[in-house]
Amino acid sequence: MIPTPPTILAFDTSCDDTSVAVVRGFQVISSEVASQTALHAPYGGVFPTVAKHEHQKQLPLVTQRALDTAGISLTEVNFLAVTKGPGLAPALECGIQFVSQFGKEHAIPVIPVNHLEGHVLSPWVEIGATKSSPPLFPALSLVISGGHTDVFLVEKMGNYQQIAQTVDDAAGEALDKVGRLLGLGYPAGAAMEQLARAGDATTFSFPLPKTAPNDLDFSFAGLKTAARRTIERQPQPLSDTLKNDFAASFQAAVIRHVIHKLKRILGVHPSVKSLWLGGGVAANQSLRDALQLLCQENKLSFAVPPERWLCADNAAMIGAAASLHLDRANEQLDRSPQWKLQ
Ligand code: KG4
Ligand code: ZN
Repeated sequence: MIPTPPTILAFDTSCDDTSVAVVRGFQVISSEVASQTALHAPYGGVFPTVAKHEHQKQLPLVTQRALDTAGISLTEVNFLAVTKGPGLAPALECGIQFVSQFGKEHAIPVIPVNHLEGHVLSPWVEIGATKSSPPLFPALSLVISGGHTDVFLVEKMGNYQQIAQTVDDAAGEALDKVGRLLGLGYPAGAAMEQLARAGDATTFSFPLPKTAPNDLDFSFAGLKTAARRTIERQPQPLSDTLKNDFAASFQAAVIRHVIHKLKRILGVHPSVKSLWLGGGVAANQSLRDALQLLCQENKLSFAVPPERWLCADNAAMIGAAASLHLDRANEQLDRSPQWKLQ
């Protein structure tokens, strides 16, 4: 007999973090991450061969840590779950191969999960005894990270319709690239936020990206180019004050674009009752403040992940998503680097 909710051992290797978690339904029992950030930093991005090698090395270790922290043995695990896509193909492959083999060895069925569904559901993942008020539908979910800037209409848990995406760079990618010009290393989003706190956001002005009047999609490439040109015009090397002001101004421009598009989306979908936020950039407090204000103005409830680490890639959100799809156990497990969430 499988208990309700079942115990799921979940895995995410979609990019540069080896993540393993134990969940029961949406409740996190343990969550462990081996981050590769320091190894990729010298390359200014994720280096696929390094990612693959590290995932292979870390997967057995992180799995054991997740079980130990949860204080359970494998016999108590009802399902395995693994990210099938979207993500970096060689990284996805590592997780899928490891979990398939592990499932066969221990006779535990495997549920394939869409990484984006994990980010969408991350505001509803539960830690400890604190329960949030139930989600209001229909909802809009903004997934904003280094690889994605997507908006989904959520009619109910498990039912998603994508209504906007970025046509070029993701918001986090733009912050990372501009952060690099400021000498901030990779990834730069959190460091940009720190500089921005000490800066004046009115120092530099960036135009709103030009898109067709009814277009709901995002575009960050133009902002990034404008940022590069602006930096090149400044006296070099940039002073600390100038860096702070620049970070504040650029971050504000990114947020302004996000809010502008969300206003348009809300105009097209006036029945929406709540806004959910997920993805690495969701950790940004200025973005959260701007979205909170937008929600107040539009009488929407606003849901963010209960802890900051749940914004970044993690396996807890993958386990939570898997708990909605037990019927997928033992489906085809080929990696799907471009998998759409629909
Ligand atoms: O979700 P995530 O861990 O990985 C994927 O891209 O899927 O997101 C990483 C992104 C990076 O671009 C990083 O710079 C950005 O999230 N990020 C932030 C902050 N923390 C991480 N961006 C803005 N403010 C932050 N505090
Ligand atoms: Zn992600």
